[in-house]
Amino acid sequence: MPHNPSSPIGIVTGAGSGIGRASVALLRQLGATVEAWDKDQSTLDALPSDEHLLTCLVDVTDEPGVTTAAAEAIARHRRIDYIVNCAGAYLYASLEDTTTQQIRKLHDLNVIGPTLVTQAFLPALRASHGSIVNVASTVALKPTASNSHYAASKAALAQLTRCWALELGPDGVRVNAIAPGPMPTSLFRSAGMTEAQETELLSTRTATLPLRRAGTPEEAAVWIARLALEDNWTTGAVIPVDGGMSL
Ligand SMILES: NC(=O)c1ccc[n+]([C@@H]2O[C@H](COP(=O)([O-])OP(=O)(O)OC[C@H]3O[C@@H](n4cnc5c(N)ncnc54)[C@H](O)[C@@H]3O)[C@@H](O)[C@H]2O)c1
Repeated sequence: MPHNPSSPIGIVTGAGSGIGRASVALLRQLGATVEAWDKDQSTLDALPSDEHLLTCLVDVTDEPGVTTAAAEAIARHRRIDYIVNCAGAYLYASLEDTTTQQIRKLHDLNVIGPTLVTQAFLPALRASHGSIVNVASTVALKPTASNSHYAASKAALAQLTRCWALELGPDGVRVNAIAPGPMPTSLFRSAGMTEAQETELLSTRTATLPLRRAGTPEEAAVWIARLALEDNWTTGAVIPVDGGMSL
């Protein structure tokens, strides 16, 4: 598979934990330079120190912060070949228990966050004929109970992926997403679920999967890295990485 440049340079948001962290590790292993963005400094500090791995404290919902960090990244590297919009949050709540404040916060992060980051890098991505990878979810493709607004936010991101692919394809920019199934990360505890609720959710979801097990962040990272680094004539795809859950 042809790679873009010999040593691609890009951004991973939500890079301090879970799928983002596994993606940073694989991208580095494949020779890419990575700027790891996260809003949690302690997770960034725990990343291995490496001259081709820079860390940056950025909250992707903070528009001026994103604009400044993106301008600094472009000035530092002089090109950006890929961005991975991985930062996201979960909301486990029935319709009757969901508040408008929760919905706004969720969409701010899962929908507006990737939009702000992508907008900030658009001129650079057009110049490099780069690649955008969004991290959606299986629940964007297949409805599930008790997380409707999370599912709606990820469905919005999946559709943004397809629309942006149409819009940016003529400029040579590819836009794809992965749709992961259940993977044990800090996502569920960060959403306020107890350990028992997390175990129950993951075991219920995985019990009926065709592959009968949860996935790993490393399995998601394989597809993220391929879509980010390989110019393989793929755009507008939302690829399930979910043990068959979307079937
Ligand atoms: N774990 C799963 O089962 C699963 C399934 C489908 C989709 N996803 C998606 O994968 C992505 C990564 O989730 P994960 O499972 O690795 O969770 P995680 O909690 O391990 O990692 C999320 C990271 O995003 C960071 N983050 C949160 N808000 C941020 C903000 N405003 N700005 C910058 N960084 C921020 C967190 O600090 C954390 O490091 C999310 O978009 C999530 O919705 C996860």
